[in-house]
Amino acid sequence: MRTIQKIDEMHAQIRMWRSSGKQIAFIPTMGNLHEGHLSLIKQAHQRADHVVVSIFVNPTQFGKDEDFDSYPRTLHTDSNKLFETGVDLLFTPKTSDLYPHGTKASTRIEVPGYSDILCGAHRPNHFIGVTTIVTKLFNIVQPDVALFGEKDYQQLLIICRAVEDLCMPITILGVPTIREHDGLAMSSRNSYLSANERQNASTLYKTLKQISKEIVTGKRNYTALEQNALSILKEANFTPDYVSIRRADNLALAQPEDSNLIVLAAARLGRTRLIDNIRVTPPTI
Ligand code: PAF
Repeated sequence: MRTIQKIDEMHAQIRMWRSSGKQIAFIPTMGNLHEGHLSLIKQAHQRADHVVVSIFVNPTQFGKDEDFDSYPRTLHTDSNKLFETGVDLLFTPKTSDLYPHGTKASTRIEVPGYSDILCGAHRPNHFIGVTTIVTKLFNIVQPDVALFGEKDYQQLLIICRAVEDLCMPITILGVPTIREHDGLAMSSRNSYLSANERQNASTLYKTLKQISKEIVTGKRNYTALEQNALSILKEANFTPDYVSIRRADNLALAQPEDSNLIVLAAARLGRTRLIDNIRVTPPTI
């Protein structure tokens, strides 16, 4: 596995692969890799000749009171894991190269309508930071296909939309969430949980499962289901940001006649912000 830090070296490598007609799959990450990332890599190997992974903790997607400074940086372990999974190239750019005019003065990419709802309403500018960095990385790696976890469902939809709007010739693939034995969605931030919090953390998934069961049995009072879930989470010591039942294709508020739904939630447990979602198909009326 080759590791590259410089953008011009990336361009040279990508030019070489492209000139010999090779397909490139790309997985952008912020490191602290877990089974969820490894599952993206497995899928990537099936889709392309070369697999590129980036590790970059992107400052512009963190709010000023968020965990940018404490975000786990585990490059050595990550690099060993990537080597073992047969990744061809690890890209570890520097902030000063990706944001040559500073993070505040950088060109920004925003997907209106999607960026300021749900997680975007609680983390202002977060998705602008995500779409901006992903666009920069796409321009450098020029992948044929890029893979993202479905745990970050809103991020996945926003990236699909940005790629479409900006006419980028890239296929975006969503890969199902990988879960711990008790249902907790794997996440780099799970390492912040204390032992007690970890025991309690799967309540988030179990609460979403409960709502999805009720929808499948025909319940249509979505606001009441959301309110009930919020109460369960509060009782279990979570501080929820939201629990919301939405249309899976565009994240609009779910209507009783909609058939393809997703239940999304974000909640804090101690200092850890957890997010999760479940797709659900209600019975036809
Ligand atoms: O999902 C993540 O890890 C990040 O938001 C991403 C896509 C790597 C952009 O920094």
